[in-house]
Amino acid sequence: MQIIKTVTELRSVLKSQASIAFVPTMGNLHEGHIHLVTLAKQHAECVVVSIFVNPLQFGANEDLASYPRTLEADCEKLKAAGASIVFAPAVAEIYPQCTVTESNGTESDGIKLNQTMTIAPPPIANELCGASRPGHFSGVATVVLKLFNMVFFNGSKQHFAIFGQKDFQQLFMIKELVKQFNLPITIIAGETVREASGLAMSSRNGYLTTEQHQQASQLNSALQDIVNVIKKGDCDFNLLEQEITATLKSQGWLVDYISIRSTRTLSPATSSDRHLVVLGAAKLGNTRLIDNVEFLR
Ligand code: PAJ
Repeated sequence: MQIIKTVTELRSVLKSQASIAFVPTMGNLHEGHIHLVTLAKQHAECVVVSIFVNPLQFGANEDLASYPRTLEADCEKLKAAGASIVFAPAVAEIYPQCTVTESNGTESDGIKLNQTMTIAPPPIANELCGASRPGHFSGVATVVLKLFNMVFFNGSKQHFAIFGQKDFQQLFMIKELVKQFNLPITIIAGETVREASGLAMSSRNGYLTTEQHQQASQLNSALQDIVNVIKKGDCDFNLLEQEITATLKSQGWLVDYISIRSTRTLSPATSSDRHLVVLGAAKLGNTRLIDNVEFLR
């Protein structure tokens, strides 16, 4: 397994690869990420994993500075999982036009774009997670397009990129990016890997206290409750969203959203939709967790 820091070296190493499967990550890898690497191996011999904490997708006062950076341990896990190449660039390698501002816990945390070109996503990017994280999906789409252009199209003919369903809205945005920008890349979705309690694995679970960690599976249980009630025939979606929000609040969560949506369009579900997804985001203390359950009615 090779660890590469620059785009020039990455391009030169990937020149001779016929097919590539790519797993973009921000590191601090857990079993969810490793599952995506395993899926990647089923699609191509050359598996590239990027580890890059993307400043552009973090808002002011979010956890850019404290996001866990564990490159050495990540590389060991990736080697054991059979990855071929780890691409771990510095911020200046990905965003030469940007200035990263020092973290001082104020609104000026983050990145100054200067002359950087970014992607303007469609309005759905301002709903769900995008409502409380303005600019987040622009940052995600921009970095993913840049990474795609660095990893693919250096002579390779078959291109696969693997994303987790855990970040359902992100997966939706990436599929739109590929479709609308005519990228010759096949997107593969990986199922959410969970702890025994049902809690979706996440790099941010490490912020939870022992007590909060025990409580955290309530988010998945709440979403699962909605699924069960809808499957029994209930289709007052707004009321269900309100009831579950109230339950979580009473358990001590600060709820960002609970929303029942159409899988195909990600717009609010109507009684005629059959392919549904219930998504939720909520905070325990300062830690924001997200989860979703996709189902057929
Ligand atoms: P990160 O949060 O590190 O996640 C990298 C990939 O792992 C994403 O596709 C995410 O959906 C997937 N993933 C996370 N938790 C998972 C779980 N429990 N089970 C299965 N897959 C899981 O998502 C990002 O990084 C960034 O936004 C990125 C796409 C790399 C762009 O910066």
